Amino acid sequence: MKLFNRTLSFVNELSLRLKRNRRIKFDNSNIKINLGCGLTVEKGWQNIDGSLSSVVSSLPKFAKKIAYHLTGAKNSFTIDEYIKILSENCFIHHDLRTGIPMDDGVSEYVFSSHFLEHLYPGDAQVLLKDSYRVLKKGGRLRLSIPDLEFAIGLYPENKERMLKNYFFINNASNNFSNHKYMYDYDMIRSILANIGFQNILKSSYKASDFPDVERLDNRGEDSLFIEAIK
Ligand SMILES: C[S@@+](CC[C@H](N)C(=O)[O-])C[C@H]1O[C@@H](n2cnc3c(N)ncnc32)[C@H](O)[C@@H]1O
Repeated sequence: MKLFNRTLSFVNELSLRLKRNRRIKFDNSNIKINLGCGLTVEKGWQNIDGSLSSVVSSLPKFAKKIAYHLTGAKNSFTIDEYIKILSENCFIHHDLRTGIPMDDGVSEYVFSSHFLEHLYPGDAQVLLKDSYRVLKKGGRLRLSIPDLEFAIGLYPENKERMLKNYFFINNASNNFSNHKYMYDYDMIRSILANIGFQNILKSSYKASDFPDVERLDNRGEDSLFIEAIK
């Protein structure tokens, strides 16, 4: 099974490489982009992810059924829920280490939850710059990331949770699921400010007028929520 998963992951990475330079065109400049969406998606958003689930979202039901058993989806959703999520939302299969496959200024909102820590810091900074590029002037960014300060605070009481949940997540067959870095508020604030974002503010769990935040936000306990404006 390990070999099968590694082969699947290799084929996925290959197909992502082939798509890396494309640009997806939109008729209007009011699109909403969800980066590293996983299965936390909403209608009306362009949900981008490099996972197998996003590949099969546009394939027939039988392919979705197979993918259900090959991904971690079965830990959180029934097969019917999984198929419904994939069929009713717009997914874009793309490796975000190669940037956002969209033109400058096409987006009013960019959202990303528990994804940035899955990139090495250099790739994350390039992606945040790219988020700035695709936003129109006045467009808004909302980030949710596991809070480094919270994670470190677990050390005295719950070292195991700290290490397993945040620092040493090690899934050898799926490189996308490992954490590559962590941030506290000052770190992420300074990166966003250097890129040119303004009005950088800490936000709270589901407490914002950012679209669909009550459904897109998750993991309220350990997350850092930040908003910024281009
Ligand atoms: C922890 S999940 C977060 C999912 C969702 N945003 C949420 O809040 O529940 C991280 C997601 O990032 C995706 N991911 C990791 N590295 C990626 C990359 N380089 N390009 C695109 N997606 C990536 C994974 O496939 C996974 O779905």
